[in-house]
Amino acid sequence: MDAIILAAGKGSRTELEYPKQFMSLGGKPLFIHSVEMLYGIEGINKIIIAVIPCMREIFQNILKQYNFENIICVDGGETRQQSVYNALKYCMEERVIIQAAARPFVTKEYLQELISMEGDAIVPYSEQIYSVIHKDGYYLNRNDLVSIHLPQIFNTTVLKKAHELAVGKNYIEDSELVFNELGIFPKLVKSIEGNFKITNPLDIKMAELIYENM
Ligand code: CTP
Ligand code: MG
Repeated sequence: MDAIILAAGKGSRTELEYPKQFMSLGGKPLFIHSVEMLYGIEGINKIIIAVIPCMREIFQNILKQYNFENIICVDGGETRQQSVYNALKYCMEERVIIQAAARPFVTKEYLQELISMEGDAIVPYSEQIYSVIHKDGYYLNRNDLVSIHLPQIFNTTVLKKAHELAVGKNYIEDSELVFNELGIFPKLVKSIEGNFKITNPLDIKMAELIYENM
């Protein structure tokens, strides 16, 4: 299987002076945590990182520093969807796993569990802990809802086809893209505790605390 790491975002909500994928967590750049978790996993043959085009060399130098080999850096796009689309062009295997550099706490054991599952779209979820309201004026039943996580696994042909149909749209998550474009509902698999995405300034502090206590 191929692996894509999304690391081409601006990280604007973290309010750092640089993209969050470069912030240090436990002494390592954030995106290196995702490389480490995917690297050497049986069944993953190639890792493709969608990078910020003008920072490609910085990514490559860091990867060299950590002695990672055979990692392909491809130019990400303006949107997350475009970053996935660009990286997908390098995917030739039957399945692809998509991870975000902003999620450092996925374990190798959990990756192996996901990889062992069958299905065209495999999506981790966590229980919806907050009540939710639709801005158009109605309530949604929390018990019917779950939150979607990464990493996600797709049949590569299915994901490529869905992305071709979705060109010009702006999906921020691939399982929704696959469902809307092809009607394929994912297999939902319970995520692991602590698999949160670093998005806001407070998340950085939480990530540091979790890392120190792991
Ligand atoms: N991402 C990407 N290409 C983009 C936008 C996002 O590869 N054009 C990646 C990010 O690097 C991140 C993941 O998708 O690993 C999830 O996106 P998000 O948390 O929204 O990160 P950013 O877009 O970087 O942050 P923000 O929205 O706050 O600017
Ligand atoms: Mg974003």
